[in-house]
Amino acid sequence: MSAATSLSACSRRTFLHQTAVGVLGGTLAATLGPARMVHAAGSDVLKVGLIGCGGRGRGAAVNAMNADKNVQLTALADLFPDQIEAARPGLQAEIGDQYQVPEDQCFAGFDAAKQLIATDVDVVLLAETPHYRPAHLQAAVEAGKHIFCEKPIAVDPVGVRSVLATCEAAEKKGLNIVSGLCWRYDLRVRETIDRIRNGAIGDIVAIQENYLTSTLWLRERQPSWSEMEYQNRNWLYYTWLSGDHITEQFIHSLDKALWLMGDEPPQRCFGLGGRQVRTLPEFGHIYDHFSVCYEWANGVKAFAYTRQMANCHNDVDDYVLGTQGTAQILARGVKGVINGKVVNQGADPPGMYDYEHAELFRAIRSGKPINNGRYMSLSTMMAIAGREACYTGQMIDFEEALRADMRLGPEKYEWGDVPVDAIALPGVTAFPRA
Ligand SMILES: NC(=O)c1ccc[n+]([C@@H]2O[C@H](COP(=O)([O-])OP(=O)(O)OC[C@H]3O[C@@H](n4cnc5c(N)ncnc54)[C@H](O)[C@@H]3O)[C@@H](O)[C@H]2O)c1
Repeated sequence: MSAATSLSACSRRTFLHQTAVGVLGGTLAATLGPARMVHAAGSDVLKVGLIGCGGRGRGAAVNAMNADKNVQLTALADLFPDQIEAARPGLQAEIGDQYQVPEDQCFAGFDAAKQLIATDVDVVLLAETPHYRPAHLQAAVEAGKHIFCEKPIAVDPVGVRSVLATCEAAEKKGLNIVSGLCWRYDLRVRETIDRIRNGAIGDIVAIQENYLTSTLWLRERQPSWSEMEYQNRNWLYYTWLSGDHITEQFIHSLDKALWLMGDEPPQRCFGLGGRQVRTLPEFGHIYDHFSVCYEWANGVKAFAYTRQMANCHNDVDDYVLGTQGTAQILARGVKGVINGKVVNQGADPPGMYDYEHAELFRAIRSGKPINNGRYMSLSTMMAIAGREACYTGQMIDFEEALRADMRLGPEKYEWGDVPVDAIALPGVTAFPRA
């Protein structure tokens, strides 16, 4: 099949194979050893290591321990030792005896993730800054670990292709990859999307995605910090580290649009964006708003809006227009309004943040692996394509963007100086950027 073959014409497996192995020339797959049986028996204690001990990482570790009482947290890794120290007391208090992390199983620095992966953990939780995720995912799969992988999975097309290849390698090894795109593990949202996919509003004509929200944290510059440390402490504000907020946060909404479209990616997108309020240099170079129009081969469009600004109208929701009706997915917490009626009114399902880990451990113990690699890669790529459409002011073709030779960030990771990228200027900034 030629490189020009449309993604939507390919089966999911063919897509994964062609994109990951075809684009990367099979190098990763060829270096992997023979598949081995990796699932643990039903009663085994599973050891978990946490990579990235920030807010989400600490939460994910607690969720994992809630999900299965026969699981222990045995290792911690973070870029910064103070983040590990800050995480430990809270984790110990929250998970009690499931906290089994000796001093020599705590690792800090740029190699911390690799050191943790080299321990005897069965499962790694990847909750670090997005830039580093493709390399950590690859190392974890090469070492035969099961993975819970936060979103987004990469910040550039080179990273997305690496993750696709890694996920294919994981599938061959029987390893689990569960994505932190948590709405996929909310049983009410699952049911609402299933109903829509099964025709509750006829054929989908258009989708509107809103992630209109306020500002996020900023960590004040300390005199002892190098520029590399400042950027890593404030990773949200640097595209090479976070992918910009369209990738870091709005991915949740873009992933629901992808899901509604049967996990087939759009053909192309264009968009408008900018940095209107977030103008101070401490906010790096990311934008504060994006609006992107994604177009699918069958004519469906998704109009996607995200804004991080204080004192503005906020709304985080998904609106779906069909030939025979309308639907709203989050709908102020009821997780499903179809043609004006609330659906899913049964007993409260388990919380999605615990449930994603419950499914992971069940899959490990049953030997029936879950692999969320394809959709987590495609929704990340949707965000990257949308970002690049807004940064450049150009129409971006999804497949071309996925093949682009674009890797963001320094080649070597070391403390010291690192450039601050220019703020993207539509009509001037080119795609792909180095
Ligand atoms: N699914 C969700 O609802 C959800 C919610 C919040 C955050 N997240 C995601 O979780 C991830 C972490 O976000 P957060 O809010 O916890 O940020 P955070 O800044 O609180 O934590 C990130 C941690 O990763 C560490 N880190 C950075 N580079 C590392 C490396 N190379 N090796 C090891 N550790 C490294 C940082 O020092 C920090 O402690 C992000 O990808 C974010 O998008 C997901």
